[in-house]
Amino acid sequence: MAAFHHLGGVELHAQPCQGTACFVARHRDRDRWSSAERSDPRVYCLGRCYDAPAAADDTTAPRVEIACATSILLGRCVDGGAADLTAYRRSGGYEGLRRARSIGVGATLTEVEASGLRGRGGAGYRTADKWRTARSQPAGARVVVVNADEGDAGAYIDRVLLERDPHAVLEGAAIAAFAVGAERAYVYVRREYPAASAALRAAVTEAEHAGILGGPGLTVTVVEGGGSYVCGEETALLNAIEGRRPMARARPPYPAERGLFGQPTVVNNVETLANVPWILRYGGAAYAALGSGTSRGTKAVSLNSLFARPGLYEVEFGIPLREIVEDIGGGVAGELRGVMVGGPLAGVVHPSLLDVPFAFDALRDIGATVGHGGILAFDASTAIVDLVRHVFRFGAYESCGACTPCRVGAARIERLFEAPLSAQARTEWESIVAALAATSLCGHGTGLADFARSIITHYGAELTGCPA
Ligand SMILES: Cc1cc2nc3c(=O)[nH]c(=O)nc-3n(C[C@H](O)[C@H](O)[C@H](O)COP(=O)(O)O)c2cc1C
Ligand code: SF4
Repeated sequence: MAAFHHLGGVELHAQPCQGTACFVARHRDRDRWSSAERSDPRVYCLGRCYDAPAAADDTTAPRVEIACATSILLGRCVDGGAADLTAYRRSGGYEGLRRARSIGVGATLTEVEASGLRGRGGAGYRTADKWRTARSQPAGARVVVVNADEGDAGAYIDRVLLERDPHAVLEGAAIAAFAVGAERAYVYVRREYPAASAALRAAVTEAEHAGILGGPGLTVTVVEGGGSYVCGEETALLNAIEGRRPMARARPPYPAERGLFGQPTVVNNVETLANVPWILRYGGAAYAALGSGTSRGTKAVSLNSLFARPGLYEVEFGIPLREIVEDIGGGVAGELRGVMVGGPLAGVVHPSLLDVPFAFDALRDIGATVGHGGILAFDASTAIVDLVRHVFRFGAYESCGACTPCRVGAARIERLFEAPLSAQARTEWESIVAALAATSLCGHGTGLADFARSIITHYGAELTGCPA
């Protein structure tokens, strides 16, 4: 509870991953899953969901492809990556920062606003609005924080971006810092991603030597996480950087008003920032020309090992989810039972709903989410009761402990699902789910409730053998 699970020299090597992609992959053989569950401390998602079940010493690389007409994000990652500055500059790297500086703060904010860019970390908040809020605070120091804690099982987008294209993330952070007037930036990278940390640190050093970062302009500090899923939640993440327990903070004030060490802080996800150099180079209007409705531009989606073609794909917003699942991913070998989009703490998409457009509003309307962009298929070998127990076991382990329904209720639900649900147990779980939805301080608890509600709606008959 409110714990860093991997401090004190805990070695991640050869730890079996217990994340949801590995759960559904291993679940085809229940005994293998049970033995993986006994490993402690637990490792939830190593970002190798394309090769599940995974261990920390796996080195297989994912397939990375562009599945849309115009690529904004993954072009360099497909072409072998641009981890060093020379390669990055060869593809126009740091042109966006140069243009931002030449057009000035106001025009930079206008470009980002015109692009319609929304956060890729889960909440889909408009990036320009967040930057403007931080910019408009009373005079004083401001901070940019890059959220590279990518803990949602099924997502390995940020890991690939950091390993293969770290300068794009740094350039995005530098543009954000320019726009809000920050001289310090922090990148919080999860401990489960050592190669990403190394690539990022090397890129920071290169950019400092080249005079792009450092000095009186922008100082970037890389902070390594301690193995706590909830640190991806932006306020818990700020506490972690400050050296406090990783617990979510009450809002308001929002980080853009009062964040790290009390200073106005823009927290942005890795992928969000990796879009920004393109927007400054080609203009917000060119970006906004792609996508659908309020979901502009393109999005990276990562597919798990149950797909015929697991991997990382760049798609244009608005593409039907069915096309991602069946055409791009090639479908699953067994009977598809559901798709988890944006991690386990979100509503499950039942196969009957696959024609939904992959877009923020459309997914929200069916009780699901874009989330981080991980797309995790499960088949008939995963019993729904086991899936519920797995998700709540994860939720209980990673709860920061601030709210009672999350701290106590998630563990209670895990126990309830160790046996087929009695009518009484079912009433109890539904009342805990209602409390999670109503009283949770952060998206960890409400995400558990969203997941549970989708199970009740679409798979209720499988919980007890009785119709819901
Ligand atoms: C439990 C929980 C975990 C989260 N994990 C992450 C994460 O790993 N990475 C991330 O960028 N955002 C994560 N978020 C969302 C962040 O709180 C925040 O909205 C995001 O970093 C803002 O950046 P964006 O506007 O660019 O999306 C998480 C939220 C919750 C509630
Ligand atoms: S819902 Fe409450 S207890 Fe659970 S992680 Fe968020 S703040 Fe912590």
